[in-house]
Amino acid sequence: MKLFVLRIISLFSIINLFSFSSAGSSLFKTENDKDHDTVSFVSRFDADNNRCFKCHGQEKYEYTNETLGRQVNAMMCSERIIHKNDFYSSNHKSFSCTDCHSEEYVKFPHSGELRMEQKYNCIDCHGGDEKFAKYHFEEIEADYHKSTHFKMEDEGFSCWKCHNPHTYKITVRNNSNLKETIAYDNAICLNCHSNFSHFQLLTDRKEISIIEKHDWLPNQTSHFANVRCIECHTQINNNIPISHLIKSKDQAVKLCNECHSKNSILMASLYKFESKEQRRDGFFNGIILNASYVIGANRNQYLNTLSLIIFVGVIVIIGIHIILRIRKNKQNY
Ligand code: HEC
Ligand code: HEC
Ligand code: HEC
Ligand code: HEC
Ligand code: HEC
Ligand code: HEC
Ligand code: HEC
Repeated sequence: MKLFVLRIISLFSIINLFSFSSAGSSLFKTENDKDHDTVSFVSRFDADNNRCFKCHGQEKYEYTNETLGRQVNAMMCSERIIHKNDFYSSNHKSFSCTDCHSEEYVKFPHSGELRMEQKYNCIDCHGGDEKFAKYHFEEIEADYHKSTHFKMEDEGFSCWKCHNPHTYKITVRNNSNLKETIAYDNAICLNCHSNFSHFQLLTDRKEISIIEKHDWLPNQTSHFANVRCIECHTQINNNIPISHLIKSKDQAVKLCNECHSKNSILMASLYKFESKEQRRDGFFNGIILNASYVIGANRNQYLNTLSLIIFVGVIVIIGIHIILRIRKNKQNY
């Protein structure tokens, strides 16, 4: 049991090491991630948004208690805190809070009816828009509809559950630090799969231990820092860079040589965005080498030839040796 706890701690401390503050979850946020004004973006709606940030921007907020007739301090629960820097670095930073939420929210206490507020879907804004065509929103949505999570739509699952409305930003497409991307993308899944309070909102299933379920995978810490959950759990779709079809668990990749081979699936997923310039010094999948050494996937053709030459050489030498021995033996008779 102790060993197990130790493993959990070491596994997630490694993941934590690579995760950065704006990752898609609050799970890995530490005390040090307090808001500093480090983001240079200036929103047209800064003043408008500050009406909300004054309460939703940090743990403490104040309001006037009409009954008591005085100012009262209270705590904002962590799920409802939106860090200003995260919001202003996200894809939707140019928005005003009230573009997506009712203007009624300016009033506090918020009216109970607002809870029933209908939320926009990604496709409401991005569907059929030329400007976003390169992202293939329609196809992503179609894949999502086939994914294992879709059955929980009625319980509240939606694109927003992985793409936090206030912090999501494209990462893999434009981040050259692959380790950071891996940590960012994995944090999206771990936001539920290592946080039971989020997980149980959607299902009656008992907690699934990710570490136990992947016991068959050696060097888990190293694997989880070097590949994403989606590498093994999605079906590759060549039209969209991030496959959104999460298959059921029995269809997940379990064979080592799906990655540890010359035809590594990683070339079609994780390394898809890597710079086009291949290393030319004879490595297969040379591009992977920029990030890591994947046994079996990084073979070098010159080394392969060299070992063949050495092998043939040894056979020839042994052959000559045998012939000489036979001749010598004949001479002796
Ligand atoms: C005086 C402090 C205060 C201000 C100002 C404020 N909020 Fe809130 N807000 C809260 C508190 C406290 C809650 C949680 C309790 C509740 O739902 O009423 C909350 C809850 C919410 C919720 C979640 C409701 C739900 O479904 O659970 C949303 C959305 C929200 N606020 C949006 C906004 C927006 C947008 C603004 C700015 C226009 C804003 N709030 C301004 C204090 C505030
Ligand atoms: C692009 C649209 C969009 C913008 C802009 C936006 N929100 Fe939200 N917000 C949402 C959606 C969608 C949800 C529901 C998320 C879910 O279902 O998981 C939400 C949920 C919330 C909640 C409830 C807690 C939660 O995370 O579920 C609060 C509080 C909130 N928003 C406040 C704000 C504030 C304050 C701003 C401005 C700084 C803001 N929102 C800007 C779309 C937006
Ligand atoms: C209320 C409308 C609206 C909703 C809802 C919305 N978006 Fe957006 N989104 C936009 C607009 C407008 C932009 C461009 C913002 C800008 O250029 O500043 C944008 C930008 C983006 C970008 C960056 C595009 C780029 O090239 O910079 C991505 C990625 C994105 N949205 C994904 C999503 C996803 C995923 C969802 C759902 C989870 C979603 N959006 C929901 C309106 C929306
Ligand atoms: C189970 C989690 C999950 C769900 C649900 C999900 N996504 Fe994603 N999505 C991801 C991950 C992980 C990425 C990669 C983020 C990164 O590193 O940039 C991503 C990336 C994207 C991108 C950017 C791809 C690019 O070309 O850079 C878009 C657009 C997108 N998702 C749209 C959607 C839409 C629309 C939905 C709902 C129909 C949705 N997503 C639902 C996990 C999810
Ligand atoms: C190397 C491939 C691989 C990686 C990486 C991987 N998984 Fe898995 N995962 C599998 C396989 C194979 C199974 C099925 C195991 C079994 O049934 O014995 C599985 C099972 C699961 C299950 C189902 C458990 C159950 O019994 O219901 C969940 C949930 C899951 N993985 C989530 C994740 C998350 C989250 C990540 C990222 C942190 C991840 N996986 C990374 C291959 C992988
Ligand atoms: C908002 C929470 C949430 C997020 C985010 C999330 N999941 Fe899940 N996932 C769940 C829940 C809840 C279940 C259990 C569904 C059920 O009742 O069978 C589940 C089930 C699964 C399963 C098991 C399916 C089966 O056959 O039993 C896999 C695999 C999985 N998720 C992978 C992922 C991956 C990979 C990501 C990130 C890209 C991710 N999940 C993100 C909540 C989430
Ligand atoms: C989804 C792709 C994927 C699958 C499936 C996979 N691996 Fe790996 N593996 C990797 C990557 C990427 C690395 C590189 C890690 C690094 O750079 O240190 C790696 C590294 C390793 C290492 C070296 C670990 C270290 O600490 O350097 C071993 C050993 C290994 N894998 C064994 C296996 C075995 C055995 C299996 C099957 C049970 C397996 N792998 C399945 C992607 C995968």
